[in-house]
Amino acid sequence: MIQSECRLLRGLLGFICLLPVCISAAPDLCGPLKTVRESLNSTLRRRYMKMNFPINYTIQVHYEEVFRLRNISRLNTSTEDEPVQQRDLQDLWLLVSQQGIKRVLKVLPERHPTRRKYLSNLENLFRDFEALYKQRNLNDEERDPPESIQNIQNRLLDPYYQGWKSVTPKSLLDNCYRTMLCLFKECFSNEDDNYDYCEVLNWRKGKKTT
Ligand SMILES: *[C@@H]1O[C@H](CO)[C@@H](O)[C@H](O)[C@H]1NC(C)=O
Ligand SMILES: *[C@@H]1O[C@H](CO)[C@@H](O)[C@H](O)[C@H]1NC(C)=O
Ligand SMILES: *[C@@H]1O[C@H](CO)[C@@H](O)[C@H](O)[C@H]1NC(C)=O
Ligand SMILES: *[C@@H]1O[C@H](CO)[C@@H](O)[C@H](O)[C@H]1NC(C)=O
Repeated sequence: MIQSECRLLRGLLGFICLLPVCISAAPDLCGPLKTVRESLNSTLRRRYMKMNFPINYTIQVHYEEVFRLRNISRLNTSTEDEPVQQRDLQDLWLLVSQQGIKRVLKVLPERHPTRRKYLSNLENLFRDFEALYKQRNLNDEERDPPESIQNIQNRLLDPYYQGWKSVTPKSLLDNCYRTMLCLFKECFSNEDDNYDYCEVLNWRKGKKTT
């Protein structure tokens, strides 16, 4: 109700979401993200994304569907005129994660346990999160992402783009998990404040493993 009111007002005036009613409607993203995190825990990733597949099984994905911590630091420090914002990286994370799940679902038979017991549910969790995430960003001002991000998004969405890479199904979700902790730090870092989830080396050392 409040949401549709917001949309209507936005449609009419473009910038009206400065109204308190809209601000108070800003959804909490951390709840659904924590649910996603639980589903992406290392036990479940191993079981459903590795043990349920033949040894060394890989699938084909676009280069841009590999989104790792290194990509984040590269994009974040790029020296273009337009700086990349946290939100651009979060948009990218969401797009890449959902495409990754779809890629794996595409190769799985209808009755495969990874589909039935894991990925279908995970896909729904992402859809729930996406709905709230879009709602939040609706309240922010309109803006186009920087060119570096737009180029990546275009390639991600281009059905004719050729540029394939073999990856293990598990690696897609490993990356999804790590980049999530980095890009949504606010939701995850209260446990031990100094821990930098964006630091590649921390993961290498395996202190907070996979
Ligand atoms: C991951 O979640 C499953 C199901 O909730 C649980 O049984 C398992 O212990 C969890 N693993 C870790 C490492 O937290
Ligand atoms: C899987 O890959 C590893 C590392 O590339 C290789 O050493 C191993 O022989 C492979 N196993 C099978 C069953 O192909
Ligand atoms: C991440 O970096 C790799 C190269 O290391 C590149 O192929 C890939 O397209 C990048 N992913 C994104 C989403 O930009
Ligand atoms: C991007 O860089 C800014 C400024 O150096 C930093 O505050 C921020 O934490 C970085 N974001 C990520 C996701 O690495």
